[in-house]
Amino acid sequence: MQTIQLPNVRLAVEIQGTGTPLLLVHGFPFDHSMWQSQIDWLSQVCNVVAPDLRGFGSSEISKDRDALTMDRFADDLAAMLDELVIEQVIYCGLSMGGYIGWAFARKHPHRLKGFIACDTLAEADTPEAASVREANAKRVLEEGSEFLVSGMIPKLFSEKTRKTKADIVEQVEAMIRNTASTTIAAALRGMAQRPDSTELLAEFEIPALVICGSDDIISPPEKMQGIADAIPHARFVRIPDAGHLSPLEQPDSFNREVAEWLKSI
Ligand code: MLT
Repeated sequence: MQTIQLPNVRLAVEIQGTGTPLLLVHGFPFDHSMWQSQIDWLSQVCNVVAPDLRGFGSSEISKDRDALTMDRFADDLAAMLDELVIEQVIYCGLSMGGYIGWAFARKHPHRLKGFIACDTLAEADTPEAASVREANAKRVLEEGSEFLVSGMIPKLFSEKTRKTKADIVEQVEAMIRNTASTTIAAALRGMAQRPDSTELLAEFEIPALVICGSDDIISPPEKMQGIADAIPHARFVRIPDAGHLSPLEQPDSFNREVAEWLKSI
């Protein structure tokens, strides 16, 4: 792990391999270690850059208590790339990492060579979803994150993963427990504030890969197919026997799809 000191925050980032930079941006409330199989495997074909977002993993917690907006995370990533002297990347984000990707595409379009959207959504929260996030933000600050662990786990994985891959389920539980409540609350508020990005999709001039676990109930395949249809140069791939965390649940299929797409662009 390397440490990158930005003007207002210190980020931890794992960098492996050489060649085209592939920026792996984790989901909520996880850290870069959710990409371990991709770091190990895809670093043989490109330069994998896998940060812990502000407040997550080994990165410094945000000093302010306000919402951690998707724009804020996107600007952190651009500043980190400046420090690493990396001009352009293939951006790959899962779920919240995808929401941050839309912000990154809006704010730093010249830095994108390609885009991989994994198990994510383009639309904003409905008012109901945003108020559930606010209630959860308040609750996590009052009582800690244990209720989130039990609430999220059933929604994150396919049934097959839950039944056969207890180690992965435990790894994800540990990531949620290791995330500070202040970070969780601020990121929940940031996600609730994110704008709708569906109009942005038609403006993508770069190649894109849209990957979805076939059993994802948070960002279901029909919605992700819609994202792929709206992006002019996109390939859509379903990963069988995976839920919302397809890179963790089915790393071999996931890595193969990414490597094939990388070769094709
Ligand atoms: C994630 O995996 O990042 C979350 O499911 C995103 C969300 O809560 O919308």
